[in-house]
Amino acid sequence: LVIIFNTVHDPLSASIGFSILGCAITWRLVPALKDSFLKANLTGKDVNKLDKQIIPESMGVVCATVYLVCLFLFIPFPFMEWFTGKGIISRTEEFHAPTFPHHKLGEFLSAMLSLQSMTFLGFADDVFDIRWRYKLLLPTIASIPLLMVYYVNFGETHIIMPIPLRFLLGRVVDLGLLYYVYMGMVAVFCTNSINILAGINGVEVGQSLVIACSIAINDYLFLNGSSPAVEAHLFSLYFILPFIGVSLGLIMHNWYPSRVFVGDTYCYFAGMTFTVVGILAHFSKTLLLFFIPQIFNFIYSVPQLFKLIDCPRHRMPKFNPTTQKLNYSRVHIQKPLGIPAFVILKIFSSLGLVEITELENSIEVNNFTLLNLLLLKFGPMNERTLTIVVIIIQIFTSCIAFIIRYRLVHLFYEI
Ligand code: UD1
Ligand code: MG
Repeated sequence: LVIIFNTVHDPLSASIGFSILGCAITWRLVPALKDSFLKANLTGKDVNKLDKQIIPESMGVVCATVYLVCLFLFIPFPFMEWFTGKGIISRTEEFHAPTFPHHKLGEFLSAMLSLQSMTFLGFADDVFDIRWRYKLLLPTIASIPLLMVYYVNFGETHIIMPIPLRFLLGRVVDLGLLYYVYMGMVAVFCTNSINILAGINGVEVGQSLVIACSIAINDYLFLNGSSPAVEAHLFSLYFILPFIGVSLGLIMHNWYPSRVFVGDTYCYFAGMTFTVVGILAHFSKTLLLFFIPQIFNFIYSVPQLFKLIDCPRHRMPKFNPTTQKLNYSRVHIQKPLGIPAFVILKIFSSLGLVEITELENSIEVNNFTLLNLLLLKFGPMNERTLTIVVIIIQIFTSCIAFIIRYRLVHLFYEI
């Protein structure tokens, strides 16, 4: 609080102050609300343990609420000069009196509306266990306020083509309405891709924290640049820093062995936070570079998500009570195989992505997720070790993302 009150004119320091506050409040609030969640039957079974305890789920809603309250309290800070007189002085100094930056306030409010809607819909998913096809729709709905303000404030739908592709479509292409479809798809991807790289203690928050820190580092690298970029990346930092704060508060209770589960609420809330900053600060392509493991897991999952291969309700790894380690989980497919299933299995097995066991009337194959693939390649692991391996991969791919964005970019664009 001291930092916040001392830094009225420095929104970034205020944001750091609110992030620390958000972390502390989430850390205290989550255990305090555990019993209320248990009473309300917001619970889940910790399936990868011997005793399979029932623990509170959907704790992401606590984390998202603290985050939103921090952001509500933060709103005046970027506009402080308008309230403290500095803005009035500059108004008299200039010939054309500047007006209050309503567009900036509009961006803030629409971003928060999208985040709030996503949290609400994610919580509804946790309570009602919504079916997959509707899950895909939820982020599209929540991103509408964001797309609306993008249309009004920027409306930019031209993209600069990468140099190797220019011979096909020229240097600049106007995507028009397709650009909005693309932005809606970013929201659907960011939210769901985190939700399907899940099911072991700490992995949802762990991967989100690495992505958030990568975004924050990328924003920081822009702060000494030209004015519009600085403003956009400051905007991104105002949203990402409190996210890092509340996620740190949550992971302390979600880390192995979990005392609480974060639920779909957290996965949607995290994905939407990344979408908001990626779209409104104009770095959606760089944002997607920080999602390399999620992109891999999504593409790998496509045959099961689109039911070309059977998809059980849960695809998380299987716990072996004797060794207390996780092994990859499998799915049974009845023979004869359909043509799509046959082709997919052929391609995946030639790439070393599946292990197939032939049975009399069926075949058995590992579920197509990154978690199962790691267990297939490196052998059975303890749950905590697997989470750490996923986080290390996320950090490693973020480093690759930075190399692509700041070194290899010259091959694709003249920057
Ligand atoms: C997605 C995945 C599903 C995976 C599940 C795990 C797809 C298509 N769906 O489904 O395969 O099994 O996430 O979250 O890929 N749980 C644990 N330990 C944890 C976290 C979760 O045991 O650390 C269990 C709990 O029983 C919890 C449940 O997973 O109740 C949550 O599943 P839910 O988020 O409802 O599954 P989906 O998101 O629908
Ligand atoms: Mg989930």
